[in-house]
Amino acid sequence: MQATLHQLKVFETVARYGSFTKAAEALYITQPTVSSQIKQLAGTVGLPLFEQIGKQLYLTEAGQELLTTCREVFEQLDNFDMKVSDLKGTKQGCLRLGAITTAKYFVPRLLGSFCQHYPTIDISLQVTNHQNLTQRMLENKDDLYVLSQRPQDVELWSQAFLENPLVVVARSDHPLAGKRNIAIARLNGEPFIMRESGSGTRQAVEELFEQQGVSVKVRLELGSNEAIKHAIAGGLGISVLSRHSLIPSMSSGELTVLDVEHFPIPRQWYVAYLGGKQLSPIAETFLQHLLVESAKYSAEQPEFLHDYTALSRKRA
Ligand code: PGA
Repeated sequence: MQATLHQLKVFETVARYGSFTKAAEALYITQPTVSSQIKQLAGTVGLPLFEQIGKQLYLTEAGQELLTTCREVFEQLDNFDMKVSDLKGTKQGCLRLGAITTAKYFVPRLLGSFCQHYPTIDISLQVTNHQNLTQRMLENKDDLYVLSQRPQDVELWSQAFLENPLVVVARSDHPLAGKRNIAIARLNGEPFIMRESGSGTRQAVEELFEQQGVSVKVRLELGSNEAIKHAIAGGLGISVLSRHSLIPSMSSGELTVLDVEHFPIPRQWYVAYLGGKQLSPIAETFLQHLLVESAKYSAEQPEFLHDYTALSRKRA
């Protein structure tokens, strides 16, 4: 195939934006140039790459195949660039990370110290729930992932690096606050704030409640751990959250952890990448940084990670 790299770049940009005009803007070229490059590329391939239905631009089957190939080619070229700069003794390039919602309480700190060592790299961190993260994996969008439930249908290399326990959180004036060994059945009928479907937290909670025959009264469904904390503080009900999401709230004293049997639900954060993926030197370096720094953090925070109800007892 006689396509030029420039044509492939134009094609990938049109596919990403779903628009010739936006691709032209992003590439600082004119819209007729974009159209003519795509036309020539389609001529080389021998099949149309896009079809326009109404105002919407769709990739044809040949277009889909070409897009997958393009992304692989660009990734290899990026890796080559990074390897060259590595050989020259400098670390440059882009680090793409995908992380579940609770990891946002930890991963950005690591990025801070990492960037001090490698100030010239660009970083993208996408924070989303498990379902969306699995989709990103299927599209090979990131170098590394941080998650707590490994999807069954994606082949991954993964390593656990820190505990991520899920605890029952209530407002500090909740009648069960400060009580020890609360039977899980006491949660029956409790007003409850649930994460959205697609959330790994929600799945873990639903599995435990089903096993234990607990039926809470779901008052509200929210897609953000922070919004759930505010809803608890606002008196809408209790919820189950990662212990990590409580760090910033500890000082305010508005929220408390309930000592309910079968909690915390034990979970771990894993760092992962797609099986068969060739990690870039930057991704490899960040992976080592994450493993070393999380081991230090775990050693420095024994109370936080292992004494889940310390927060409630201090106040009781
Ligand atoms: P979630 O995952 O955002 O999909 O609920 C969070 C977690 O498992 O810690």
